[in-house]
Amino acid sequence: MSQQPVQSCVFPVAGLGTRFLPATKAVPKEMLPVVDKPLIQYGVEEAEAAGLSRICFVNGRHKQAIENHFDRNVELEQSIAGSAKEGLLDGVNRLMDRCTFSSIRQLEARGLGHAIGCSEPAVGPAPFAVVLPDDLCVNPGGPSVLKQMVDLYQRYQCSIVAIEEVPQDQVDKYGVIAGTEEEPGVYRVSHMVEKPDPSEAPSNLAIIGRYILTPDIYALIGQTEPGKGGEIQITDALMKQAAAGKVIAYRFQGQRFDCGSVAGYVEATQYCYENLYR
Ligand code: UTP
Repeated sequence: MSQQPVQSCVFPVAGLGTRFLPATKAVPKEMLPVVDKPLIQYGVEEAEAAGLSRICFVNGRHKQAIENHFDRNVELEQSIAGSAKEGLLDGVNRLMDRCTFSSIRQLEARGLGHAIGCSEPAVGPAPFAVVLPDDLCVNPGGPSVLKQMVDLYQRYQCSIVAIEEVPQDQVDKYGVIAGTEEEPGVYRVSHMVEKPDPSEAPSNLAIIGRYILTPDIYALIGQTEPGKGGEIQITDALMKQAAAGKVIAYRFQGQRFDCGSVAGYVEATQYCYENLYR
């Protein structure tokens, strides 16, 4: 069977960002700057560096700033043309040259699984990546986390979730996996639970905001009932693939910052200022 390449990257960005209020009352969480760049740009850079050039935002109303960030702003460009500031847009302009951007509305915030399901018309019947941009991932000097996962997909040809070990008392913030380690850092998932009570968690291996999904996930999402919190959970849809042995969990190389929380955001800002800022 010929292998279909992963070309699309879905960014579910329709959430309300309530943990970061009041900052996120009028400004999308994904547009908060880490040093001088909005979070969403770090995510799109990671996708582009992994060879994924079809970017699809699953967006909500009031969050058009995300789309506008990847569009021309002629008035601004004219006002800085020929000045030292012109170069400050090079990074985002490069992404605009190399990627295509589409946007689909999630009419109601019905959960991450539902948001991913909304991307089907843009992605079509092909494997695709998902990036939750509030998880900022870095791997200085090595391949990005998404690139590592795209490479792993070539070998495993099934859905992949990125995982990291978290303290046992924090597992209730994540989807948590159980599985057998097939090679160092690569687990065949047998079971997964969304936000388990720490006393009932099958492990402390938590799913973070990077996925590669095979397109059968769309039909499975369609069959998934609302779960934890009344939301359609991607973990529940993935469970159906895991039952058939079709989900790999990958302990990635690099570091993740949870920029959806104030503490993680401050940590990321400090890290990026010290290590990545020109
Ligand atoms: P979060 O659980 O972080 O929710 O969603 P949130 O709304 O962004 O933030 P808090 O918890 O209220 O502070 C994880 C990801 O899923 C997206 C979010 O935008 C985020 O990228 N999401 C979540 C959707 O796109 N739609 C939804 O219905 C729910």
